[in-house]
Amino acid sequence: MKVFVTREISEKAIHLLKKEKLQVSVYKKDKPIPRKELIKNGKNANAIVALLTEKFDKELIDKISKCRIIANVAVGYNNIDIEYATKKKIVVTNTPDVLTESTSDLAMALILACSRRLMEGERMVKAGKFKGWKPKLLLGIELKNKVVGIIGAGRIGTETAVRARAFKSRIVYFSRSKNPELEKKTGAIKLSLDKVLKESDIISVHLPLTEETYHLLNREKLSLLKKSAVIVNTSRGEIIDEKELIKLLKQKKIFSAGFDVYENEPDVNPELLKLDNVVLLPHIGSATQEARTGMALLAVRNVINVLKGKKPLTPVNKID
Ligand code: GLV
Repeated sequence: MKVFVTREISEKAIHLLKKEKLQVSVYKKDKPIPRKELIKNGKNANAIVALLTEKFDKELIDKISKCRIIANVAVGYNNIDIEYATKKKIVVTNTPDVLTESTSDLAMALILACSRRLMEGERMVKAGKFKGWKPKLLLGIELKNKVVGIIGAGRIGTETAVRARAFKSRIVYFSRSKNPELEKKTGAIKLSLDKVLKESDIISVHLPLTEETYHLLNREKLSLLKKSAVIVNTSRGEIIDEKELIKLLKQKKIFSAGFDVYENEPDVNPELLKLDNVVLLPHIGSATQEARTGMALLAVRNVINVLKGKKPLTPVNKID
């Protein structure tokens, strides 16, 4: 059986595949695999270990006719046409849980970096512009008693709330369904989206990207934010209408925004680069050794299970 891995991932994971006597090939270049290459290699593969940078649309899925599983090394799977893959009886799996702590750590890091203006401070020091302690130098926002609004209260949203609670913030959240675990752990209160946006001092976005969540935070919704608000996004760029958010940042209608994800990744809107009241990261939410090893191992365990005729561990679709 042949497994194609679209980028170099943890050696431990490759080793696990080889131990199962699977024939493994890996795309070795340190850049997203060109579509042509993906088709060429994917065509003969019984399983593909894929990344979120590859788009599995109908055209591509039609070409990988031997493939029984696409194991996405990510928790999000908006890069894959799930409905069509299901129709073609291809199992799709993702990597939940193993990246929850790392991603919520990063959300918290962005919250702190934005509210305490860390990057502005660093730019100042590096430019040789730090001329001594000043009573009003880079005044930020303290987290105690501030309202942190979690938008999307799944695993990562919950853990971000737990972290914010440790900083003595009060938690509100917007989610399709009630999250008793989140409420129990943090005393969080479930509110409508509008109320979360209006009442929060800090907003952290944790939704999956779907047709319903695309531009969920559009101009109208963003206009509900407080002038003192901080908003951070570690989920998918497309959930926020980035142009509208940039307008608010430019006009100082909110305090600050932290981006780990962008609408047109890897392109970053040049307007963002000019702003001081933003923190810009290169999609590194799950980028810890622990999480990336865990993700790779989980993805290949899914592959091994499916190729052996067993149930996948973390499927996102159901094949009859
Ligand atoms: C990363 O963005 C992921 O979905 O795992």
